[in-house]
Amino acid sequence: MATSQRRRMRRNAENGLFTKPSNGDFMKNILVTGGCGFIGSNFIHYLLEQPDFTGRIINVDKLTYAGNPENLAGIAERFSERYDFIKADICDREAMSEIFNNYKIDAVCHFAAESHVDRSIAEPDSFIKTNIFGTFNLLELSRNRVALFHHISTDEVYGSLGKDGFFTEQTPYRPNSPYSASKASSDHLVRAYNKTYSLPVTISNCSNNYGPYQFPEKLIPLIILNSLEGKSLPVYGDGRNIRDWLYVEDHCRAVWLIMKNGKRGETYNIGGNCEMRNIDVVRMICDIIDEMVPRDDSMLRRDLITFVKDRPGHDLRYAIDFSKLQRELGWVPDESFESGIRKTIKWHIDNKGWVDRVKSGEYMSWIERHYNL
Ligand code: NAD
Ligand code: DAU
Repeated sequence: MATSQRRRMRRNAENGLFTKPSNGDFMKNILVTGGCGFIGSNFIHYLLEQPDFTGRIINVDKLTYAGNPENLAGIAERFSERYDFIKADICDREAMSEIFNNYKIDAVCHFAAESHVDRSIAEPDSFIKTNIFGTFNLLELSRNRVALFHHISTDEVYGSLGKDGFFTEQTPYRPNSPYSASKASSDHLVRAYNKTYSLPVTISNCSNNYGPYQFPEKLIPLIILNSLEGKSLPVYGDGRNIRDWLYVEDHCRAVWLIMKNGKRGETYNIGGNCEMRNIDVVRMICDIIDEMVPRDDSMLRRDLITFVKDRPGHDLRYAIDFSKLQRELGWVPDESFESGIRKTIKWHIDNKGWVDRVKSGEYMSWIERHYNL
């Protein structure tokens, strides 16, 4: 990148402004981290189909238990000129430095993380390493080099709401789990690199996602698979905790919009406008599966619901105010929960091969350890 261009970007970043192109042309080589995970793989599918992205994606993933190359089956063949996959750990500075040098990275879209709250409670070490140290590494390598560092974060950094109110971009951070604390730390680092080094950054804090390719340790895919298999459906505590659900493709669309047109140095909340109690999510999945795949014995899936011991420090309620994203970039979610969950259930029924292969040794042993089966 020319020095004058870098200077101009720095000036814009300092002013909180950006002379933004209306398309993604300034991002020729995008480094996507964690692209074999749930949201990262959906984002790669999405981005490669966008007419206003003609560049190349370099997907770097360590392939932890949550990273599954099958989520991107066929992509390397269909987009052979525009897609590369490299297995690497974002904590490995040398390996990452080589990737930045070899590909002349213009923009980073940083999904890679340890993402499951329950695992962070049981085994927090890898969360601290990947989410904090890994992000720090990427920031160091991006400094004075990239046109954009987009950081994917979560609404969990804001803590827990009572009955009323919404998380806005001004809500103070109050993380309650090792996972959310590690994400909060990484958000602070990203912000600091913008303020201190004028790195052009954007941050998005999103609510709970669901959709294809989600690892079945999370509530929605776990409940879908257990319902289909006639297994018990574990609901933590009394099931009254509330989450705001967003279909994953809506999240991907928001991220791409922010990368193109979001103000540098700013945070955007992304939400589904869809607050639901966990017990209602589980009941709805049961009813739709009963309708799509009736059981021979006419038993109702709802009868499989089992209330189990609560998660320690379980946040009561998340609700997102995404009016800034709506006002500035015109984004609203397309999918309702009813339409999104129907698509998601159908996807799991239609992709039994993927489901069977995902239920690897690590998945089964986590389920056994966590639910004492
Ligand atoms: P995921 O667990 O499905 O995928 C994470 C991916 O990161 C995996 O492919 C894994 O192999 C990779 N990874 C982990 N450690 C790595 C390392 N050290 N180096 C390189 N790759 C590594 O997670 P997800 O649900 O797709 O979440 C993606 C991002 O979105 C995370 O940053 C998460 O905090 C954030 N987020 C998730 C949700 C949600 O509901 N799932 C909501 C808001 C924000
Ligand atoms: O809010 C965004 C966050 O959403 C992301 O940052 C995280 O990466 C993602 O994992 C998700 O976190 P949650 O803890 O909200 O998601 P999870 O699917 O684990 O749980 C959703 C709710 O369901 C939560 O209140 C706990 C509850 N639950 C979960 C599981 C796995 C159950 O009742 N039973 C279960 O078996």
